[in-house]
Amino acid sequence: MKAAPETLSPEQVAFLVRQRVARLATADAAGAPHAVPVCFACSKDAIYIALDEKPKHVPPTRLKRVRNIIENSSVALVADRYAEDWSLLAFVLVRGRADLLEPGAGEHAAAVRLLRGKYHQYETMPIEENPVISIRPERVASWGTLEAPRTDEPTVLDAVRGRRSVRRYLPREVAPELVDAVLEAGRWAPSPHGRQPWRFAVITRGETKERLARTMGEEWRANLVMDGQAPEVVERRLEGSRRRLLDAPVLVLLCLYLEDLDTYPDAGRQQSETTMAVQSLGAAAQNMLLAAYDRGLDAGWMCAPLFCPEEVVEALSFDPKLVPHALLTLGYADGDPPRRRGRRPLEDLLVYRD
Ligand SMILES: Cc1cc2nc3c(=O)[nH]c(=O)nc-3n(C[C@H](O)[C@H](O)[C@H](O)COP(=O)(O)O)c2cc1C
Repeated sequence: MKAAPETLSPEQVAFLVRQRVARLATADAAGAPHAVPVCFACSKDAIYIALDEKPKHVPPTRLKRVRNIIENSSVALVADRYAEDWSLLAFVLVRGRADLLEPGAGEHAAAVRLLRGKYHQYETMPIEENPVISIRPERVASWGTLEAPRTDEPTVLDAVRGRRSVRRYLPREVAPELVDAVLEAGRWAPSPHGRQPWRFAVITRGETKERLARTMGEEWRANLVMDGQAPEVVERRLEGSRRRLLDAPVLVLLCLYLEDLDTYPDAGRQQSETTMAVQSLGAAAQNMLLAAYDRGLDAGWMCAPLFCPEEVVEALSFDPKLVPHALLTLGYADGDPPRRRGRRPLEDLLVYRD
């Protein structure tokens, strides 16, 4: 057990910011203890807990934890990691003085920002209207392997490595909630200036898929003929692509939307702005692929709309400001995909490291 007066060490802060829940212990004037699970955010000097709108029987300021803090500001908060592999167990225990920060105070606004940054659920809750509990650490103790990765549940890296492109699907419907989860992952992609320069379209109706397949097929036919491909090869490839679109239960079309981006007087910077938007659309697509995999869905990526964006916009009667870029197919794989491509070793990709 390691104790440090007053401040959290960088390792303790790093551990706390990864934890989604902690337990807050308070006591009334007579010393009767009370403990509740809490969502919290932390800076290196303080821990903040919102008085939020999760279903509760009493208004936030009548909560037992709040009444206790008013009577007795001495509190403890513990955040811990449990794993069946006990070499990964760890906790940080903070003891200190709790205060109620009232709305309007500078620290209150900063605390609300931290809490909203950590929990997206707070974005739509008026937590700024309630006091925020702050805890100033007076004694901090920690134990265990604070820096260990979470290994008791699938990690992001598991999804990154496990995901693969799927091109043939079972005729099985995808629940709308799963599609929503995939779109939600796209929404959280990083983007230039945070402007989210993309819009998504979800296509499930056979008639719409048919229209899209016909439009993109015409463009591809012209390109394959231009490339000098034999007519029977052209027809075979077109039919394969058409079937792929029609047989996928769900199509998600990612379109670039540049209207909210910055404008520059010079073409160079304008081009970079557009490139950033395209990079960010790729990040949204990857978020969606990973979320699909995480939810037990399979997915594939088709670049076809990129070659005929205007035609796709017209065929689907979209806003002409949208630029269709990437098409994701979603569904359940009709068996393991036959073409699993390996990856170059990292040494081939890493050109510099010091
Ligand atoms: C920008 C982009 C465009 C792609 N376009 C297509 C496509 O049109 N058709 C296709 O079958 N796969 C397409 N893919 C999927 C790649 O072929 C696939 O990701 C790659 O072969 C690696 O295989 P994996 O995804 O199974 O790991 C595309 C991928 C990216 C990133």
